[in-house]
Amino acid sequence: MIIETADRLKITKEYYFSTKLQEVRELMARGNDIISIAIGNPDMPPSQATIDELNKQSNIHENHGYQSYRSIPELRQAIRDWTLKTYNVSLDAESEILPLIGSKEGITHISLAFLNPGDEVLVPELGYPAYSAVAEMVGAKAVKYPMLENENWIPDLQTLQQSDLSKAKIMWINYPNMPTGAPANKKAFESMISFAKKNSILICHDNPYSLVLNEGAPLSLLSVPGAKEVALELNSMSKSHNMAGWRIGWVAGDKSYIDAIVKIKSNVDSGMFKPMQLAAAAALQNPESWHIARNDEYRERRELAYQILDRLSCTYDKRQTGMFLWAKVDDAIGSSEKLADYLLYKKNIFVTPGFIYGEKGEKYIRISLCLKQQLLQKVLQRLESIDITEI
Ligand SMILES: Cc1ncc(COP(=O)(O)O)c(C=O)c1O
Repeated sequence: MIIETADRLKITKEYYFSTKLQEVRELMARGNDIISIAIGNPDMPPSQATIDELNKQSNIHENHGYQSYRSIPELRQAIRDWTLKTYNVSLDAESEILPLIGSKEGITHISLAFLNPGDEVLVPELGYPAYSAVAEMVGAKAVKYPMLENENWIPDLQTLQQSDLSKAKIMWINYPNMPTGAPANKKAFESMISFAKKNSILICHDNPYSLVLNEGAPLSLLSVPGAKEVALELNSMSKSHNMAGWRIGWVAGDKSYIDAIVKIKSNVDSGMFKPMQLAAAAALQNPESWHIARNDEYRERRELAYQILDRLSCTYDKRQTGMFLWAKVDDAIGSSEKLADYLLYKKNIFVTPGFIYGEKGEKYIRISLCLKQQLLQKVLQRLESIDITEI
C-alpha cells in the first residue's frame, strides 16, 4: 500500500471477532473440527410469518427501489406498537423512531451526531467494545466507568459523580447487560436518568437482549418519566427475533435527537430494502408463544452450558439474562485468554475470553447459547476427561 491511512487507524483495532474468526476459519480449513460457543449469532430462524412476508413482498416489482431515509411508515408504526406492548412506552411513530441497519451502526451515527474532538464518552468498564472504539474514531476520549459487581453490575454513579465530568457528553449503558448477563433494574435506570440530567450527559441505552431469557418484565430506559430529555435507546431485531443477518434495529428518543441523527445517517446509507422492512414489521407482531418457545429452547441449552462450565471449574451466577453465560475462570488457571487458547488449540472449542470486554473481564469467559443441543453435548464429551491442572 503506497497510500498512508488516516491517523485514526493508529488507535483503531479491528474488531476482535473479525480477526479471531478468520483464524478459526483457517484452523477449520486445516481440518480442525472446531465448535464455536463464542458468538451471539442466533441459529434459530425468524418466525415463519416473517419469512413468508419477505418472500411475498420481494415478488412485488415495485418494492425494489430506494426507500425513505427514515424507513417506511409501516415499520415505524410496528415499532411503535411493539414498544408500547413490550415496555409500556409511548413513542411517536413519525418523529421519535429511526430504524437502523442494526443497532451497531447506531453507535456510530449517535457518536458522529453528538461528539466533538476532545469530548469524553463514559463507557462501561465491561461492555460491548464498539462504544469506546467508535468514540476514539471520532476523536473523543472513552473514559471507563466502574460497575458494582456485588450490585449486579450497575454503574457506580457515586464514584463517577466525584470525577471531573465537565467534558463528558455521552454515557453508554446496556441492560440486560452484555457480557455479565445482569438484568435491567428500574431503580438503577431512574438514578441514571437523574445523573444524566444533573450532568447534562446524553445517556444512550443499548437494549438488544430484553426478550432473551429475561425472567422479569422487559424494561426500557425511556419508561423513566422525563427520560426523553436526556436519553436515547437502541433496540435490535438481531437477538430478539432471530434476525441478526437482516441488520435491522432502531433508535428511539425525542424528535430533536432523532433529527440530528438523520442528518448524519442520510449521508451514509440510502434506506433499507422494502420487503425486509415489511417482514420486520410482521416479525414485531410475533405471538407471545413464539418468544416463549424460543426461550424454552435457550433454557434447555443453558442447562447443558452450566455443565460445560462446571467441567471447566468456572463459577457463574444462575440469574443471568440474555443468550450468554458469563463465568469466572478458576484461580488455578488464572486468565481467560489462557483458558480460551487451551480450549481452541487443544480441544477445538472456541469460547470468548472476557478480556475483550475490558480489563475486569480478564478472569472471565463468555459462552453463547446459540448452538444446537447436540453440539453442546459434543462440547461436553470433548471435556469429559479434562484436567484443569494441565492448562
Ligand atoms: C451489547 C450489544 N449491542 C449491540 C450489538 C449489535 O447488535 P446489532 O446486530 O443490532 O447491530 C450487540 C451484538 O452482539 C451487542 O451485544
